[in-house]
Order: sequence, then C-alpha cells, then structure tokens
Amino acid sequence: MNLYNEDCKETLKKINAESLDLVVTSPPYYNAKPYSQYNSVVSYMDEMEEVFTLVFEKLKKSRMCVINISPVLISRANRNSQSYRIPLPFYYVPMMEKIGYEFLEDIIWKKPDGAVPNRNGSFYRHRKPLAYKPNIVTEYILVFKKPAPFLLDKVLKNDSLVEDGYERNNVWEINPDTSNWHPAPFPSALVEKIVQYYSYEGDLVYDPFAGSGTTGKVCKKMGRQWIMSEINQAYCSKIINDISKL
Ligand SMILES: C[S@@+](CC[C@H](N)C(=O)[O-])C[C@H]1O[C@@H](n2cnc3c(N)ncnc32)[C@H](O)[C@@H]1O
Repeated sequence: MNLYNEDCKETLKKINAESLDLVVTSPPYYNAKPYSQYNSVVSYMDEMEEVFTLVFEKLKKSRMCVINISPVLISRANRNSQSYRIPLPFYYVPMMEKIGYEFLEDIIWKKPDGAVPNRNGSFYRHRKPLAYKPNIVTEYILVFKKPAPFLLDKVLKNDSLVEDGYERNNVWEINPDTSNWHPAPFPSALVEKIVQYYSYEGDLVYDPFAGSGTTGKVCKKMGRQWIMSEINQAYCSKIINDISKL
C-alpha cells in the first residue's frame, strides 16, 4: 500500500493518531549490521524510545506492537580483550513500559542447531568450567499492548477465527530465511503467525524498519493493509520490485 523511503520518525509524524491496528517490526540490533551504526547503546536506546513513543501515539487502544529483537554479540577487538553480549530485549521491556505499553508475551523464535554460528568449538575441546558458551539458537518476539480503559472482549470479533494448527506455546520453531537479499530478514513464516494472531483481515499494519519488506509482503498475501518505512534507498527499490511480482 505505502512504502516510505525515509526515517520512520518522519513517516510516523504523517500517520493519524490511533489509526494503526498492528505494528510488527525487527529494529536494527544496535551495531550488529553495517546498515545502522550508533555511537553508544544509550544513543541507540534513546532513538528506539523516540520511535516507539511515536508508534504508541499512532496505535489504536488495545492493539499490539510486536518487536523481534535479540541480544547482540560484540566480538573481541583484539587478543587481549573479550567478546561480550548486550541483552537488548531486556532493555526494550522497561523502555516500552515507561512509554506506557503493557507487556504481554515473550515468544521465543527457535532456529535449528545447524542454522547458527558455532560459539562452543573451543569449549567442546577443553571443557573448562567458566568458559562455557552455548550456541545461540533463539531470538525474542516481544508482544506489547497499548492499554485501553475497556476489556479486550469488547473489541474481539466473532466472525473471524485463527486457523487450527496455531502455536500452542511460546517457543516457535522456524527456519531462518536464507534466500533473502537483505542481511537480517525475519522469516515470512514468523510474520504470518504474528499477523494471523494479532490482526483481522483489512486491518492496517505498520513496519517502521522494513528491511526487505517481509511485513508488507505477508500483509499483501493475508489481506491486510500495510505501511512500511525503510531508510535505505537501495532496499526500497528491491522491495518495490519484489512486491510488483507478487
Ligand atoms: C533488522 S532490519 C529489518 C529486516 C526486516 N524485518 C526484513 O524482514 O527484511 C532493520 C532495517 O531498518 C532500517 N533502518 C534503520 N534505521 C531506520 C530508520 N530510522 N527508519 C527506517 N528504517 C531504518 C535498516 O536499513 C534495515 O534495513
């Protein structure tokens, strides 16, 4: 429906208050990929707080903002330093609660063992306690709600049901998308579940950090209206090309 090649904060300023039915997004994971670089974790979280505050204003009451995020690994700079992990999902929860969102779910996206980099190669050889490092096969899907002064029952529709075969627990096993041209896409199977569980046909869905446009592509397939923002012009051209072929 609408792809904006600009900073999402600019798009958000154009969106009407309380007009979005669902927000689904995977923001930059701090400095994990070269397309977005921040001076510090504090400046990164400040930027995210600005974005998700605007999202809060534009989201309808009792509707969800769903964020895919995970801790990031900062590689060691040299042989005398150590690598370390930044627990981004655990920073997002207090940030979102401060803005006014209600925390609903921590869904775990589990990838197959063979789909992730091997971190425990040297531990496997020497098995020294304290040096244990598991392979990271999970990411978080954090679900937040914009509170409303009425019960959720009031907005539930009777004529639209989630298909059988839905996820019964909060660990969703899904393969990563390895065929995508973007360096950090989330799989369409993941977005299909989120869109199915948290929106109705015809609803308006927004992704502030479009990347390869997975959210818009899924919405097109599932009969939802969509808006996306993506700051990178080359990515936008590719999204337009992909969507024209759907
Ligand atoms: C993790 S990727 C999103 C991947 C996407 N979920 C997909 O399936 O392809 C984050 C994207 O946000 C974009 N981005 C970073 N800062 C932005 C901003 N302020 N406004 C809009 N897009 C931004 C980056 O260029 C990158 O493509």
